[in-house]
Amino acid sequence: MTQYSSIAGTGAYLPEKILTNADLEKMVDTTDQWIFERTGIRKRHIAADDEFTVDLAEQAAREAIERSGLATGDIDLVIVATTTPDRVFPSTACLLQKRLDIHGPAAFDVQAVCSGFVYALSIADKFIKTGSARHALVVGAETLSRIIDWSDRSTCVLFGDGAGAVVLSASESPGILSTHLHADGQYDDLLTVPDGIASGRHKIKSGQDANMYIQMKGNEVFRMAVMTLGRIVDETLEAANLDKSDIDWLVPHQANIRIINATAKKLNMPLDRVVTTVDQHGNTSAASVPLALHAAVSEGAIKKGDTLLLEAFGGGFTWGSAIIRY
Ligand code: ACO
Repeated sequence: MTQYSSIAGTGAYLPEKILTNADLEKMVDTTDQWIFERTGIRKRHIAADDEFTVDLAEQAAREAIERSGLATGDIDLVIVATTTPDRVFPSTACLLQKRLDIHGPAAFDVQAVCSGFVYALSIADKFIKTGSARHALVVGAETLSRIIDWSDRSTCVLFGDGAGAVVLSASESPGILSTHLHADGQYDDLLTVPDGIASGRHKIKSGQDANMYIQMKGNEVFRMAVMTLGRIVDETLEAANLDKSDIDWLVPHQANIRIINATAKKLNMPLDRVVTTVDQHGNTSAASVPLALHAAVSEGAIKKGDTLLLEAFGGGFTWGSAIIRY
């Protein structure tokens, strides 16, 4: 019998501290109006000084496991998508395993920036389809606030911290219908944090260095995101043999409302069928898609049997999609 994977539970966590557009007006030369009109963002959440990616991941993971009706001991694969791991190593997935008292099953991080969760979901689906796992914990978690230059108005208004999680379980019917992953590394200079081992992180650094923070050519990233997401929508529908009208919900990466609206237009989706949470937490990179998914599921908007199209685009560039019968 063909084995599929399906979503058994979702979870989310946003740090307590909120930074509004009005707060940002006091920090850089910007306005609430500019931020909202250009991005759709109203506020973002910021991790406390003693709060790190694994802390956010743990909260979201515990909720997803509880909602799936499973115990932590049932989890036999842990994947964390993150661009802001707490350490060079061990992986955040291993740190999360320790928190959850899970011992033995494979655990690893996926680094695909804003597409990280869709990548991780696709990998977990393949583990389950091949019988290598039965209950996978898939988390997207970020503390982007630590790689933001808070004096750079062109980037600091866009990002926030958060975590989202799903438990993906083996099932006899789908579930995940198909996933599609892509990357093109030639665009590494359009969206990057240049710092890393090669740039001498091992040497003692004094003071701050622009290479430690997100650098982005916003206009070019915007154009590429709209064009690429338009293309992947066609590819995904064709592979699943579905029509635009078969999609009940678009669950897009929450980066910018204008990118989301362009993808919705391409799908002829009315905006009330597009899950939008970017106003509440800004761009949380790998956490963005599971945060949006969890919000729509817990509000009762997404219902059992609905067909969902998840999509994301991010640094690399990377991009990906998943079509899911919830
Ligand atoms: N407040 C006020 N003015 C600002 C701000 C700000 N926070 N930031 C930039 N400006 C100014 C610029 O300096 C520029 O001024 P100028 O015309 O005098 O030079 C003007 O506003 C217009 O700037 P643009 O960059 O052309 O504005 P644009 O409409 O492209 O919006 C934005 C910028 C929001 C960054 C947009 O390009 C974008 O969303 N790009 C996608 C980036 C993104 O989402 N990246 C995240 C990762 S990838 C992903 O997730 C898709």
